Amino acid sequence: MSQIIDSKIREDFPILEKKVNGSRLVYLDNAATTQKPKCVVDAISDYYYNHNGNPHRGAHTLSIEATSLYDNAKKKVQNFINADSEDEIVFTKNCTESLNLLAYSLSQSFKEDDEILLCISEHHSNILPWQRISKEKNLILKYIYVNEDGTIPESEYEKINKNTKLISIAQMSNVLGTIFPVKKISQIAHEKGAIVVIDAAQSIPHMKVDVKDIDADFLVFSAHKMLGPMGIGVLYGKKHLLDNMPPFLLGGDMIEYVYENDVTFAQVPYKFEAGTQNVEGAVGLKAAIDYLEKIGLQNIEAHEKMLTEYAVEEMLKIPYIEIYGPMDLEKRGGIISFNVKDIHPHDVSTILDSYGVASRAGHHCCQPLMRYMGINSSVRISFYLYNNIEDIDIFIDSIKNVRKWLGYGS
Ligand SMILES: Cc1ncc(COP(=O)(O)O)c(C=O)c1O
Repeated sequence: MSQIIDSKIREDFPILEKKVNGSRLVYLDNAATTQKPKCVVDAISDYYYNHNGNPHRGAHTLSIEATSLYDNAKKKVQNFINADSEDEIVFTKNCTESLNLLAYSLSQSFKEDDEILLCISEHHSNILPWQRISKEKNLILKYIYVNEDGTIPESEYEKINKNTKLISIAQMSNVLGTIFPVKKISQIAHEKGAIVVIDAAQSIPHMKVDVKDIDADFLVFSAHKMLGPMGIGVLYGKKHLLDNMPPFLLGGDMIEYVYENDVTFAQVPYKFEAGTQNVEGAVGLKAAIDYLEKIGLQNIEAHEKMLTEYAVEEMLKIPYIEIYGPMDLEKRGGIISFNVKDIHPHDVSTILDSYGVASRAGHHCCQPLMRYMGINSSVRISFYLYNNIEDIDIFIDSIKNVRKWLGYGS
């Protein structure tokens, strides 16, 4: 079977040379975090060896260099998601912090009985911040429920109504792999006057995301799921909306004037970036985006589609595996959650690890979804650009041994 991305790119990822339990590392936990190419690690080292200073604060050369690297990374993100201006890009710690910032800050203008709408498949980080502000402000928290195949039935869109203040939904589910029609959702929501927040944590690393095309009011993601470092995330927001929001964290760098009992805040995006910022993270994120663009998001998407198709086809041949999420492969990305009959997901994942296969077992930070699906947990494999057919073959061979290991015939 021919591959869209040449396996030679694996050489860019030194960790893939690692042996795990004596076997070739088959890294299939990309939805949790991705591996880093050498160019990302080198860019971070270069920053510390040659340019380290506190940005936006100094008149000296190193501070100016750090400022310029930080600002260039913002420009890069702006172009990557097709935002109108770099002022619409706020750097945060991760996707979770971006969502907490939004929930706190937006809710200051929400009124009792305003409705917040989420999807049942959301990650806890896109549930808990909204749950808290709903309790504090007496808002009504509602959910869209998915079909058995992990897609949203048309009738559920009727939940978006004139009382809906905000809808927040992941573009790709980290359990079901479903790619949700966010462009359509944002169109319906805007017709009803609701704000649209898109959690792009699992989509942006794998497909072209254009904030103007999908008309997202806000979009959030983490660098570590797209070849970048941990500890930096992005909050995109339409400028006129960010302008009207109060800051989340208070402190240095985000102010204009401070008096003994009062303060005026800096312009966006700085009013949302309190304290010393993560310049190494910004530098690493820029290097990661450069790398992704060199390979091409379309190639990455096509490559993962091919891997997903092959993996699902092979998994369907194994009678004791149940796969969750859409079977229409056009509606899903490279995340496959499944269970092996009679075997606890944690045992499955541990046995896979003994063959060098890294998978994930548990509720995947989606307990409401698990409860809705009537399961406690699942095993999850997830692909990225450096995975190849050989990885899938090793995974399939290994999974076939799981039940035997635990004393079942097959
Ligand atoms: C869909 C989704 N949203 C949000 C998050 C949270 O990302 P982070 O832990 O980087 O903040 C994750 C992480 O797995 C995710 O899959």
